[in-house]
Order: sequence, then structure tokens, then C-alpha cells
Amino acid sequence: MDKLLSKYKTTAIDNVTLWFKAAPIASFPENGGACIKYRDKQIAIFNYKRKDTWYACQNACPHKLEMVLSRGMLGDDQGIPKIACPMHKKTFSLENGENLNGDLDPIATYPVKIENDFVYIGFSE
Ligand code: FES
Repeated sequence: MDKLLSKYKTTAIDNVTLWFKAAPIASFPENGGACIKYRDKQIAIFNYKRKDTWYACQNACPHKLEMVLSRGMLGDDQGIPKIACPMHKKTFSLENGENLNGDLDPIATYPVKIENDFVYIGFSE
């Protein structure tokens, strides 16, 4: 269980060493998410159109280790963009990964950039 989560590490934009070309922006629903694979990781990417911002995080929910966060519901908690897991509605900040309605471990978050209609995710490995 820890092994599954230990490969996901929050990456600050200043620490990015590789921008992974994930997919065209058209692959992502507006105000929704989709999952991409990078090496042995599943990364959830969100096109938060209402805030005109993109976010990325681990796809694994730390509650039951289901690979489901990309199918969660985007929302806002007092200005903090959040994702609600579709399984049991645990919510996580998309800015720093914090579990906003419980005491679960935070999720790993990753920087996103858009270039020439493609979505890139930043990794530090
Ligand atoms: S598996 Fe995500 S809230 Fe339970």
C-alpha cells in the first residue's frame, strides 16, 4: 500500500526537470478530468475551465487506494480548488494536496503548463 503511494511526490515548479507531453487539450473535458500514464504513475489532469486553470495530481485516492481521482468532481472550498473522490467524497486541495474534509495523507500535486494546445506535466525525475 505504501509502495503504491510512495512513487507520487509533490513537485514544485522550481524543481521540474522534465515536462512530459501528456495530451492535446481537447482530450480533457471542460471542468473535468482525465488520467494519463507517465512511467509507472497514473496522473489525473483537470481542466478547471471555470477558474481558467489546469491542475494535476496522483490518480490514486489515499483513502482506499482506488485509481479514481481523475473521475472526481471539481469544486471550490473557500477559494481553494478541490477534487472530490467519486468513491466516498473525500476532498483534496488541488493546490497543495491537503485532505480538506478529513485526516488522510495529502495527495501529490504536479505543475501543468500549456504550450501549442498540448498539456505538459512537470516531474522532477
Ligand atoms: S476511495 Fe476515495 S474517498 Fe474512498
